[in-house]
Amino acid sequence: MEIPVIDFSNLNGDKRGETMALLHEACEKWGFFVIENHEIDIELMEKVKELINTYYEENLKEKFYQSEIVKKLEKQQNLSDIDWESAFFIWHHPTSNINQIPNLSKDLCKTMDKYIAQLIELAEKLSQLMSENLGLDKNHIKQLFSGSNKGPAIGTKVAKYPQCPHLDLVRGLREHTDAGGIILLLQDDQVPGLQFFKDGKWVEIPPSKNNAIFVNIGDQVEVISNGLYKSIVHRVMPDMNGSRISIATFYNPNGDAIISPAPRLLYPTNFSFGDYLKLYGNTKFGEKGPRFETMKNMTNGHGH
Ligand SMILES: [Fe+2]
Repeated sequence: MEIPVIDFSNLNGDKRGETMALLHEACEKWGFFVIENHEIDIELMEKVKELINTYYEENLKEKFYQSEIVKKLEKQQNLSDIDWESAFFIWHHPTSNINQIPNLSKDLCKTMDKYIAQLIELAEKLSQLMSENLGLDKNHIKQLFSGSNKGPAIGTKVAKYPQCPHLDLVRGLREHTDAGGIILLLQDDQVPGLQFFKDGKWVEIPPSKNNAIFVNIGDQVEVISNGLYKSIVHRVMPDMNGSRISIATFYNPNGDAIISPAPRLLYPTNFSFGDYLKLYGNTKFGEKGPRFETMKNMTNGHGH
């Protein structure tokens, strides 16, 4: 199975239609895909990974190997509720907390802020393309995510999945779907571990070459698309030979955003059967599709 690859450099030329169709299919049938030629500065991406790796080595690694997780595992007890990961969260928007995270160097904060600014542009572009592919106004997802005008909530989970001698006993991260909207992942170029469950099988996501960005869809995009786009179960397996870096940025709804399926994507709702019959009288020998569309225009999203 080949994971879909969306080449963003094809979005402006005569391959746009083809590329949009590929993206739509990836969102519908896979729920995850790779973006190439995303125009995020490659040197910046390399620097983010390098500085996070150094931060982990200097601040987190020793703590991790002395933690309860490791002790529990050595005693082989209560293993059902632990993940073999060393992680922390950074919030970027609406309010950044990057300056409050202990021991982050100025260089790391600045580099991260620069990277995130470029990544947000990519997330917004993607939210527009998805909205467009769903037949919605291109700002639909962003507007819904913005809640009472604060804009989408954007944060990053920075994680290392440390080298692990107990592969049969523990997961790096247990299986789950993501709660939010669109997740953009900058990950290791050497160490594997991420897996998605597709068609009854675990699909291994290989380490990212050439700083491609891996994207997956969260639960809220599944709801907004009325189930057309899917959030997919995934997990992280630990590795015996290396530590895997994972920098996952969430483009999510604000906490006060009210989520619902886009009315455009629903069957017509809340009409009286009498109204339907009136329309039916004139259109009985046509297809039902356009009739449903007419009913939708009369009812969905019009406060009925
Ligand atoms: Fe996840």
